[in-house]
Amino acid sequence: MTAANTETNKDRVFIFDTTLRDGEQSPGATMTLEEKLQVAEALDEMGVDIIEAGFPIASTGDFEAVVAVAKQVKNATVAGLARAITADIDRAGEAVRHARKGRIHTFVSTSPIHLAHQMKKTEDEVIEIIARTVAQARNLIDDVEWSAMDATRTPLEFLKRCVETAIKAGATTINLPDTVGYAVPDEHEAMFRTIITSVPGADKAIFSAHCHNDLGLAVANSLAAVRGGARQVECTINGLGERAGNAALEEIVMALRTRGDILPYQTEIETTHLARASRIVSAAANFPVQYNKAIVGKNAFAHESGIHQDGMLKNAETYEIMTPASVGIKATTLVMGKHSGRAAFKDKLKELGYELGDNAFQEAFQRFKDLADRKKHVYDADIVALVDDEVGSVGDRIKLVDMEVVSKTGGVHKANITLTIDGEETSVSFEGTGSVDAIFNAIKEAVGQQPHLVLYAVDGVTGGTDAQASAHVRLEMNGRIVSGNAAEPDTLVASARAYLNAYNRLLIERGASAQGAMAG
Ligand code: KIV
Ligand code: ZN
Repeated sequence: MTAANTETNKDRVFIFDTTLRDGEQSPGATMTLEEKLQVAEALDEMGVDIIEAGFPIASTGDFEAVVAVAKQVKNATVAGLARAITADIDRAGEAVRHARKGRIHTFVSTSPIHLAHQMKKTEDEVIEIIARTVAQARNLIDDVEWSAMDATRTPLEFLKRCVETAIKAGATTINLPDTVGYAVPDEHEAMFRTIITSVPGADKAIFSAHCHNDLGLAVANSLAAVRGGARQVECTINGLGERAGNAALEEIVMALRTRGDILPYQTEIETTHLARASRIVSAAANFPVQYNKAIVGKNAFAHESGIHQDGMLKNAETYEIMTPASVGIKATTLVMGKHSGRAAFKDKLKELGYELGDNAFQEAFQRFKDLADRKKHVYDADIVALVDDEVGSVGDRIKLVDMEVVSKTGGVHKANITLTIDGEETSVSFEGTGSVDAIFNAIKEAVGQQPHLVLYAVDGVTGGTDAQASAHVRLEMNGRIVSGNAAEPDTLVASARAYLNAYNRLLIERGASAQGAMAG
């Protein structure tokens, strides 16, 4: 990898996507293997340089996912995360060796607070660990990234010693994460500049930023790091990630592209894929994108005020600094109605970025026809909701067969529900303080477990009273949080199906995670 582009005279910034690792660690964002493969494919097609596919030691499922992504990805480097522990590094090496280009990404904490309370190690002991574990990784593979966890709360002199040690031991990328989202842009830029200009051997490695968004500064800090000399940025689609998330890939890429005048750096990302990648990740992780999210939010290119609309009609540049088309957003189009056939539906799916297998296509087509029967206008957004819903429910163990809800003002709210659980039909009736409460109680009664409802929200996919309702549910059981989504013209059916979608995810076995294996 080289960092300069002779044609454009702009320095190249490598995009390291960690949606499948740091993003997936976000509570409720667990993805199945199929979903991870779908996300990896979208990232690879979009031109991401490095895909961090998971944390192989964390569980058998994680290991298998990294192997599967490594085998599937055609262009990107595939990285696997490892703590500074011999078994972790071996496991990561075993997983990424299946990739055309593999990378072991190993990390250790360096800040005084982590050393004292979490690791219970001295500085000298940490230096010894870095030398030993980076060398171990280098014996397995040529491409080794080393990260100083909590770098931004680490005294500079010690951080310099750590970085020098990692480079001497063979690290080819040095990542200085803002693990707790504590940095502000000026100091972040200065930290990178100081390390890069003063550590012996720094020219042998690519420096990388990895910023969390606890203060809402992750993207600003990532860009500041680039100004300070970083040439790799770690980020996630939709800013998914631990707590307040990671720096959003789409924001970094579009900031570099739109403000090339003062940020003379370039990435190889095909920006017209950004909206599609956002949709795929949102559906796979069951994580809605906030309406006003920069670049990919529903409102990112919507103009409501009269003055803005007037300006837009005269010249779009009056209020738009980038075009919707440049990030892959097309104007909402009216699509086929109930007379549309399979070929037209397939074409539309392709345009929206979906390629479904035969069974999923047949089911999606049937649901599209049902929707077109009930709804006057079927928009692109309706089709996206319908297909995401369909893809998200493949392999479900609990399925809704039928439901009836009786609701009376000031009176009883009762749900009669028929489900199949592992193919066996069961019917239950249950009351609740409202219709939705009755539905959720009935489902819990039928399945026989009591997950805790963390979140329930409903919104309209498009405008109008005949719009599909999009319901989101988040459940918690035994410390595990999962999310579920569903879209339906009927709000109560959408709610029931979203609840079931989350419930089904709770039933997906996840291998036991290695002790303390979650990284920041
Ligand atoms: O935030 C962090 O420090 C991390 C490391 C594992 C790179 O995610
Ligand atoms: Zn992180």
